[in-house]
Amino acid sequence: MNTITLDITNALPDGVGENGIGRKELEETIARLSEHFSKLIASPMPFMMLPSTRFQFDEMRSLADKIGKMGIKNMVLLGIGGSSLGTQTIYDALLDPFHNHEERFRGGKPRYFILDNIDPHKMGAIIETVLPDIDKTVLVVISKSGETPETISQFMIFKELMKKSPGFQERIVLITDREKGILNKIAAKEGFSVLNVPDGVGGRFSVLTPVGLFPCALMGINIDKMCAGAAGMAAHITRYDGDENMAFVIAAILCLMDKKGKNIHVLMPYCERLSGFADWFRQLEAESLGKKGFGPTPTKSMGVTDQHSQLQLYVEGPKDKCIVLFYSATREVPIPASFDYLDDVAYLANKDMKDLFHAEFQGTRLSLTQAGTPNISLVLDEVTDYNLGALFYLFEMVTLLMGHLIGVNAFDQPGVEQGKIYTKAMMGKKGLEKERRHTEELLSKPAKAIVF
Ligand code: PA5
Repeated sequence: MNTITLDITNALPDGVGENGIGRKELEETIARLSEHFSKLIASPMPFMMLPSTRFQFDEMRSLADKIGKMGIKNMVLLGIGGSSLGTQTIYDALLDPFHNHEERFRGGKPRYFILDNIDPHKMGAIIETVLPDIDKTVLVVISKSGETPETISQFMIFKELMKKSPGFQERIVLITDREKGILNKIAAKEGFSVLNVPDGVGGRFSVLTPVGLFPCALMGINIDKMCAGAAGMAAHITRYDGDENMAFVIAAILCLMDKKGKNIHVLMPYCERLSGFADWFRQLEAESLGKKGFGPTPTKSMGVTDQHSQLQLYVEGPKDKCIVLFYSATREVPIPASFDYLDDVAYLANKDMKDLFHAEFQGTRLSLTQAGTPNISLVLDEVTDYNLGALFYLFEMVTLLMGHLIGVNAFDQPGVEQGKIYTKAMMGKKGLEKERRHTEELLSKPAKAIVF
C-alpha cells in the first residue's frame, strides 16, 4: 500500500498537558509556513525539483548496467556526511541485514563497504578484506566539493591499490560537482567515469541525486520507485494546506517544541531498517539548523533496545525532549508455546514477535505521554523504496521549513568548513601557512590534562 501515518496527538495539550503545543500557536505557525511555502513554490530550491527532473537517471542506469556485467564482488564507497549517509540509509532499509555475509542474501550483487570514517583501524581491515578481489572491486568516490581531505586521502590509497589490476579505470566512478574541485581534475586526467551533483544541491540534500541513487542502482534497488515516492510526497505537500500538510505540521511542532525548551529531538525508530534514516535526519537537522546560537539537538535512540538504556531519562528526566517515533513491522516470527509448565510466560506463547514489537512501541508511547513527554509518531505500513523516497523528501522539506521559522540559512555549514581548514593547515596544505601558524599557536597553549 505504501502509507505513512503521522500521529501528533501526544504533542498536544490533550495528550501531554502543559508540555504540549496549544492549538492556536500551532495554527499560527502553520499559517506562517503555508505563506512561506507559496513563495517557495514560485521559486523552488533546486533539491525540491529532483523528484521531477530525475537528474542523470539514464547515465546512472547505463553505468550501473555496464559495471553489473563485470562480475564485481566488492563495492567500496568513499564519502562522508551528506555524501554517504543517504546510501547507508537506503542500504539499511532495503538490503538484507546479512547482505555482506552470505551470497544467498545478496543475489549476485557485490558486498559493500562504506568508508565514512578514516579511522585507520577500520580502514586497514577493509583494505585487507577487499584486497584479494581488488580486480573485482568497484570504487565509488563521492564528494560534492571534491576537496574533502578524508575522502581524497582514502581515494589516494584505493587508487594505488586498484591500479595494479587490469581495466581499473572502468571500475572507478566519481560523483562530484559539475565543474569545481579536485575530482574533476583527476577524472579529466585519468579517464574515470563521472556523475554529478546538480547545481545548487548541497551534500545533505543530495540523496535523490547520483550521490544516493547511483550506489542504489549498483545494488539493483529501484531508483524510479524511490523517486516516485519523493514525487508523491512533493504532491502531498503542494496539495494539502494547514494541519493536513505533513511537512508543515512536523516542522511547526519541532520548532515550537524547540522554543518551549524541548530542544532535544530524539529520533527513535522501532524498526532496525530505519536506523540509518535516524542518522541521516540527525545530520540534516544538526548541520542545517545549528547556527547563530540556535538549533535543536537531534539524537538517536533505537526501539526497543534503548527502552533499556534511555527511556528512563525520557520519562522521568528533564522535560527538554520531544520524541519522534518511527514504526514499521511486517515480518512475522511466531513465538512457540515453550516452557508450558510456567504460567509466567503463557502471555507470550503462541503470539508473534510482531505483536510484541507493536506492544512495546505502544507501551513506550503511552509511558512517555503519561509522564508528559511530548512525542509524535510516523507509522509506515511497509519499508519500501517508495516510502523511503517519500520520507527523504518529507524530512528535507521539514528541515527547510524549520530553517525559515528559526531564521537560519539551512544550506550552509560554516562551522564544518572551519574544521576542514584547520585540518588541511595542520597537514601542511600550500596556501594555508598563516592558518597553520595560527593552529600551532592555539595548540601550544598549556593544556589542563591528567595522564593515567
Ligand atoms: O551536507 C553537507 O554539505 C556535508 O555533510 C558534506 O556532505 C560533507 O562535508 C562532505 O562534503 P563533500 O561532499 O564536499 O566531500
